[in-house]
Order: sequence, then C-alpha cells, then structure tokens
Amino acid sequence: MIDAENKLKALQDKYSLTGQSLEHYLEGLLLSNYLSYWDYVHLDTLLSLQNPRTDFPDEKIFIVYHQITELYFNLCLHELDQIANNGVDIQENGHVKGNFKELSLEFFKERLKRLNRYFDALIYSFEIMIEGMQKEQFTKFRMALLPASGFQSAQYRKIEMASTDLVNLVHKDKRDQLFAYISKKEVFDLIYWKEGAIDADTHKKTFTLKQFEKKYADDFEQFAQEYDGKNLWQKYLELKRTGGVDDELIELLKSYDHKVNVAWPMAHMRSAARYLEKKSGKSEKATGGTNWKKYLPPRFQMRIFYPELYSESELKNWGKN
Ligand code: HEM
Repeated sequence: MIDAENKLKALQDKYSLTGQSLEHYLEGLLLSNYLSYWDYVHLDTLLSLQNPRTDFPDEKIFIVYHQITELYFNLCLHELDQIANNGVDIQENGHVKGNFKELSLEFFKERLKRLNRYFDALIYSFEIMIEGMQKEQFTKFRMALLPASGFQSAQYRKIEMASTDLVNLVHKDKRDQLFAYISKKEVFDLIYWKEGAIDADTHKKTFTLKQFEKKYADDFEQFAQEYDGKNLWQKYLELKRTGGVDDELIELLKSYDHKVNVAWPMAHMRSAARYLEKKSGKSEKATGGTNWKKYLPPRFQMRIFYPELYSESELKNWGKN
C-alpha cells in the first residue's frame, strides 16, 4: 500500500509539474482498453504492406526480404544517430535522466556491437535471396519491377554517410580530383554511386539514378551536412583526442567496415550472379541499368570507411577474399 501511495505521489508530482491533473488521467486509465500485442506492433498494418506486382508466389519472398532489410537498416541508423549525438536524453517526470553529454568509450563500443550484429544477421540471411527463390519465377517477375532497384535504398546511402567522411565515399576513379580546396558540395557530387549508375549501353545516367536523385537529393545533402562532424569516424577521432580509445574499439570499427563494405556486398553480389548470369556466359541487364558485374564487386568498388586503420597490404587486398 505504501508503495502504491508513493507511486500516486510521484504521479501527482509528474502531472502538476506541467499544470495537469492526475485525477483526469486516472479517469482515463479506468476507461481505456488493455493494450494488445497486435496493436502494439501494428500487425495488421505491417501485413498489409506486401503488394506483389505479379502472380508469381516467390515475388512475396522478394518483397518481404527487402522490407526486413530496410527495418534492419533503420535500426542501424538508430544506433548511428545515438553515437553521433552522444546518446539520447531519457525523460522521466519532465526531467532529463541519464548523463550522456559526452560520448563514452563503453557506449560507443556497445552501439558498434549492435551495428555489427544487425549486419551479421543481414549477411547470414541473404541466403534467403540467393537460394530461396525459383530462378524461373525471378527472371519473370523482375521484369514487372523495372526501373526500380535496391540501388534506390535511401537508408543504405544514409548508413554510409553516417559511418564515414564523404571523401571515403568518392568513386575510386575520381579520388585524384580531391583537392584541399574542393567544396563539400563538389565532394558530394563525386560519390561513387552517382558515378556507378551509368547505363551500360548509353553511358548516360540511368533513369533509376535520375529518379533516385529527384526524390532524395535535398534530403541527402542535408543529411551529409548534418553528419559531417559527427559520423562514426569523426566520433572516433573525438575520443582519440582525449586518449579515450582502445584496441577493441578499433577492431569493432574494422569489423563493421568489413561487414558493410565487403561481406554484405559479396552476399548481395552472389544473388545477382545466381539470377542474372546466363548459361551462355552472358548476363541479364539489371533493373537499375548498371553494368552490375563491374559495379557491384567490393574489390572494384574499393569502398573503405576507415582507410587509416589498415596496413598497406590490408588495403591492397581489400575485398579479394
Ligand atoms: C535476388 C536478389 C537481388 C538481386 C538479383 C539484386 C541485384 C542488384 C543489382 C544488379 C544491383 C545494381 C544496380 C542495378 O543496376 O540495378 C543492385 C544494387 C543494390 N541492391 Fe540489390 N539485388 C537483390 C537483392 C537486394 C536486397 C534484398 C537488397 C536489400 C535492400 C538490395 C539492395 C541493393 C542495394 C543497396 C544496391 C546498391 C549497391 C551499391 O550501390 O553498391 N538488393 N542489386
């Protein structure tokens, strides 16, 4: 009873702080329904979001697995946001609880471990794409999806921008154009995927890229600006300046780098090889129109978030095994 009285007192304090009445809230509590699992996770809405464009049953697997991936990407952005902003303020009774003003090594490492787990789950589960659909069905239903491509995943691009400085995302053939006086906007324009999505036949920007830029260009520029000083690499440097880093943090960063830029792209590449490679040795055109055999392999892309953390031979052999 004493416990209940204490809780009532605490509630009274909470509401009076904002000039509200506890009695009204108690009345609402008496009248309100119990929360159910299905309402909490919005199950009906969730299961109403799969809308295949054809009657091939395997198209459902393709849609659902993309959605699962996007949800994991969202969790990644959630962790990246917390590292960038030194944690979140947890509010209780109108007061900020927790002291997250400075990024601590422990907090950074815990969040990095989460990021690595999410990517492990994605890498491991990619088998669902590689082996889990009938090729005969895939080659048919994909034609109903033109010109859409996973290339247009905005969250994937944001994960990259929140993980490293923009210069590390510049296309490898354009890195010699990086001079000290080049503006942030100019660096942004040299990002690898803008260069990579050139139509294999026409050598012009693919329609898929044009549409992607039309929808997200402003959002991306704003996001890139926001993370300029607080992406993972900048946060690492910030801790390093105060002597707050250790070997485990470095290993976690390298492992994250490898998962995002080698292991996941390799798993993804295997799915492209399974479905788009023809027996004749020729290959199907990708829905996004890139020369995918040259564009996708990590050893050609040479995307590395933290080049400063590797030896010369590690850099030379990036993506080769
Ligand atoms: C059978 C399954 C898949 C195939 C055959 C496939 C094929 C391709 C191809 C050919 C590209 C190059 C762009 C283009 O020209 O279209 C691409 C890019 C991409 N796809 Fe997939 N994909 C598959 C599954 C997925 C899944 C499940 C995701 C998860 C969201 C995804 C995300 C991406 C991303 C992020 C890119 C851009 C990669 C980069 O720019 O380096 N793909 N995909």
